[in-house]
Amino acid sequence: MTSPQPLAKGLRNVVMDTTESSFIDGDEGILLYRGYSIHDLAAHSSFEEVCYLLLYGSLPTRDELAALDARLRAARVLPAPVVDVIRIVQRAHPIDVLRTAVSALAAFDPDTADASLDAVLRKSERLTAQFPTIVAAHDRIRRGLEPVPPRDDLSHAANFLYMLAGEAPSDEAAAAMDLDFILHAEHGANASAFAARVTASTDSDLHSAIVTGIGTLKGPLHGGAAEAVMTMALEIGSPERAHDYVIARQKDRNNRIMGFGHRVYKVEDPRARHMRERSKALGESLNQAQWYAILQAVEKEMERYKRHGIHVNVDFFAGSVYYLLGIPEDLFVPIFALGRIPGWCTEILEQLNNNILIRPLLRYDGPLNLEYVPLEQR
Ligand code: CMC
Repeated sequence: MTSPQPLAKGLRNVVMDTTESSFIDGDEGILLYRGYSIHDLAAHSSFEEVCYLLLYGSLPTRDELAALDARLRAARVLPAPVVDVIRIVQRAHPIDVLRTAVSALAAFDPDTADASLDAVLRKSERLTAQFPTIVAAHDRIRRGLEPVPPRDDLSHAANFLYMLAGEAPSDEAAAAMDLDFILHAEHGANASAFAARVTASTDSDLHSAIVTGIGTLKGPLHGGAAEAVMTMALEIGSPERAHDYVIARQKDRNNRIMGFGHRVYKVEDPRARHMRERSKALGESLNQAQWYAILQAVEKEMERYKRHGIHVNVDFFAGSVYYLLGIPEDLFVPIFALGRIPGWCTEILEQLNNNILIRPLLRYDGPLNLEYVPLEQR
């Protein structure tokens, strides 16, 4: 029998491959997409430009960006049978509806079975364009309203908000949504991208890999955190009550404060700063400064965790931004997926370009050589 291998529980600190998509320094709090600082992209870029950067590897020229933008706008409409599927599953959680609709889209995509680089890029663009339409159509349907057809004169972010509300968003709202999509677009071998890579590594198809990613994103330790943070803020209700809330949670070690901690970042998540600023600004301009104040009070109470490397992550302030935009809490996870789809596709493309089946080992820790007892003797 071979000697036991060292365990890497949770694959913590395991480097499984090389990447050119994103660079993360968890000790310094640095995040780069293809070499560009997340702070520069947050300040100057758009989600469409970031999609190009991630999928095609470099910043686009004006013509390249215009062409990608036109393709995304043209791909927003869903096949009618997929809208029917959404109607059938409308009672499910929106992230489950997104997962189901993406699965259904595979039946209508002309390139589903084509694994060539060009086809995977075409599918990646189409899925990026279709995601917001799915989430918005479902939200309308479950409220007893008809889906609002996409408008091709609006940006990706603005059109999403338009399809949700049925009216064009303010520039401030569209900019907040765009920023959120940029910040969530890519993040290395995070759990959902890793899961998507595992599916892709079996030579399965892009839609299957994305369905895997969506299912993995759903959990509160990953994409579900923003919803949990807003639930917490609503429960706390006022900044003065943050202290008692945090103390009460600490009594049970399993009761984590959502929006804090990260597997990779041991300092503040570099994305958090932008959502913090946006949460503050939106709260002030909408005369609802209390949410930011509550979150700030929680952050203060959590100061003592900093010495353990536990700081706010991107999702701590994200939920309050969505809430201020009038978005229901159960759409927060799907919104993460709307931002992350180009990153998933980029990770899958990297996997396919240099594929090896991802298949780790488990160390067997059970009994050996037990004597089989026939059923009638048990
Ligand atoms: N509140 C209180 N304690 C925490 C927290 C938290 N949010 N996060 C970690 N800890 C403690 C944990 O209890 C453990 O303590 P001990 O060693 O004494 O048992 C220690 O820190 C290490 O925790 P871990 O779970 O082993 O660390 P991890 O690297 O596996 O955890 C995490 C990463 C994100 C799962 C965890 O920090 C967490 O559960 N955070 C809350 C959920 C959350 O906000 N998720 C969003 C992550 S950012 C968006 C994304 O990319 O998904």
